[in-house]
Amino acid sequence: MNYRHAYHAGNFADCMKHALLVSLIGTFLRKPTPFMVLDTHAGIGRYDLQGPEAEKTGEWKDGIGRLEHENPESPLAPWLELVRKAGGPRFYPGSPLLASLMLRPQDQLICCEKHPEDKRALYRLFARTPNVQVHERDAYESLRALLPPAQARRGLVLMDPPFEEPGEFERLAEGLQTIQTRFAPAVVALWYPIKHRTPVHAFENALKDAGTRDVLKAELLMRPPHDPERLNGSGLMVIKPPYGFAQEAQALLTRLGTTLGAYESAVTTLIPE
Ligand SMILES: C[S@@+](CC[C@H](N)C(=O)[O-])C[C@H]1O[C@@H](n2cnc3c(N)ncnc32)[C@H](O)[C@@H]1O
Repeated sequence: MNYRHAYHAGNFADCMKHALLVSLIGTFLRKPTPFMVLDTHAGIGRYDLQGPEAEKTGEWKDGIGRLEHENPESPLAPWLELVRKAGGPRFYPGSPLLASLMLRPQDQLICCEKHPEDKRALYRLFARTPNVQVHERDAYESLRALLPPAQARRGLVLMDPPFEEPGEFERLAEGLQTIQTRFAPAVVALWYPIKHRTPVHAFENALKDAGTRDVLKAELLMRPPHDPERLNGSGLMVIKPPYGFAQEAQALLTRLGTTLGAYESAVTTLIPE
């Protein structure tokens, strides 16, 4: 496990994923009934953008670094407000910290992180947060162990793997099947890199072949996806997107794309209900 998210925190792909995540969790707040968020690849939760890893790549400068003066009327404002609350612009909140800031007392966040050092950092971050659990656990194993949740009938599963080992798209597609078998009502968000179109098309076909229904994909491309060695863009596949999410996602990506100078952004229905 060589991947460390600290080198990439706050880059364009994080901005896309996190703005969409905040919007997705926002849809759960419309009802008072409890919900659960399972973050299967949680990372360390908070990243120092002045630390050596972030300094080394400087990736955040073309991501969150360009959003400091965003207008309060912007569709990105709710996410950026949470970034500020978490210690931004220097300390950038990852997915579990954003989710935890949105929970009400009746809601719950379960985080899994396989890297022991990262898990310890995450554990320390949430030591005093009662409705957050942190597990040192394999993401895919956690789906079988932790679903369905004991205390909620609705929830969101975010899977955000590092794609450092071959076969990650296949594992994501299998993981989705496990989630749908064990916790059918779950909204699922699967993050994926877009280097080249071929593996993404194979992933889409795997979802279709498995009979998955109701899939929305949101994508942000910084360059045409022609160089398989570069992260040219990223996507979030959302299964069972909540009512109104497609429109919000479109507004978020249009704004983000304009501010970051993206090549293209799109929100499309991959598979209807
Ligand atoms: C892309 S980062 C996660 C970033 C985080 N979701 C965020 O948005 O702030 C992926 C994380 O997954 C962890 N990881 C890698 N393989 C894993 C596995 N099989 N199970 C659980 N965690 C894993 C890595 O250590 C890394 O911290």
